[in-house]
Amino acid sequence: MTAPLLNAENLTRDYRIGGGMFRASATLRAVAGASFTLSTGRTLAVVGESGCGKSTLARLVTMIEPPTSGRLNIAGTEITEAGAKELKQLRPTVQMVFQNPFASLNPRKKIGTILEEPLRINRRLSAAERREAARDMMAKVGLRPEFYGRYPHMFSGGQRQRIAIARALMLHPRIVVADEPVSALDVSIRAQVLNLLMDLQEEFDLAYLFISHDLSVVRHIADEVMVMYLGRPVEHGPKEVIFNRPHHPYTRVLLASTPAVDPAARSQRISVKGELPSPINPPPGCPFHKRCPFATPHCAAERPELRMVDGRLVACHYAETVGAETVEDEIAG
Ligand SMILES: Nc1ncnc2c1ncn2[C@@H]1O[C@H](COP(=O)(O)OP(=O)(O)OP(=O)(O)O)[C@@H](O)[C@H]1O
Ligand code: SF4
Ligand SMILES: [Mg+2]
Repeated sequence: MTAPLLNAENLTRDYRIGGGMFRASATLRAVAGASFTLSTGRTLAVVGESGCGKSTLARLVTMIEPPTSGRLNIAGTEITEAGAKELKQLRPTVQMVFQNPFASLNPRKKIGTILEEPLRINRRLSAAERREAARDMMAKVGLRPEFYGRYPHMFSGGQRQRIAIARALMLHPRIVVADEPVSALDVSIRAQVLNLLMDLQEEFDLAYLFISHDLSVVRHIADEVMVMYLGRPVEHGPKEVIFNRPHHPYTRVLLASTPAVDPAARSQRISVKGELPSPINPPPGCPFHKRCPFATPHCAAERPELRMVDGRLVACHYAETVGAETVEDEIAG
């Protein structure tokens, strides 16, 4: 078997927060040990409530920030051991598409300039070659050639996201990290942009790390799903396995609140009863125990490790029991 394109092992990211004249600073563990792989042509979707560490994970994978601990291997390079020169060479391999295409495009630059910028910095090409590359990419993402000389404000959200996607692909990355790429768009155009992303994945053999709080979008685009809770993956496996029979109570709650609809129909903000504990002071034992309908005293005492149950990794002491019931049972009962 060939090595995965990206291999993350126990990735952790801490932030020091607070701390003033009279206050001690605290450590916030935004990502608390995430292990996963990305493969060419495949999409790993990362889901979970606001604050569970999705964007922090995106910043680690795109090398915007280094992990506090853990290992990250991208295309054969161990990034925690790589020197500045090696990292510089590796950076074009991973590109990012952000949530808000109104904030991510410079309003003072023309579309052509925006698309050619990565080439100007990273490649030695003539002006004519850059122009041709930009025009080619515009065609691939469905933008008309006359848009080349126009400014971002002349475009709708969906068109701007196409521009942002084109920019991300100019250096022919192998991995694209998309952090809620359709959440800011009108529901009516979400499916178009998702389908474009899927077409481009096939054409350019891309691996996607796709972050979303919207499970109907994930259902549409993912091959694998990783559910995160308080910085930790709690259930991770093939999409069908997770959606058909979730084995973690948290995944069940997420799915039970999301009807199986197409991504154009409506957006589902994840909502779970009870308050999300603070990542500065996570509860002992299972981080979900205060909100979990299946919790026992054992759950408050001992944290469950990820283990393989029924074709997926799951971190729950009672995964077998949880998985034996269907989500419909719970809704009906
Ligand atoms: N630079 C930072 N300094 C301190 N704390 C941070 C920093 N970045 C993120 N955090 C904290 O880390 C945790 C994870 O944040 P992150 O933005 O990764 O979550 P998220 O899953 O992307 O949430 P959302 O769905 O709202 O985008 C949160 O508690 C957040 O407040
Ligand atoms: S370990 Fe216990 S508290 Fe945690 S998810 Fe499983 S049943 Fe719920
Ligand atoms: Mg985020």
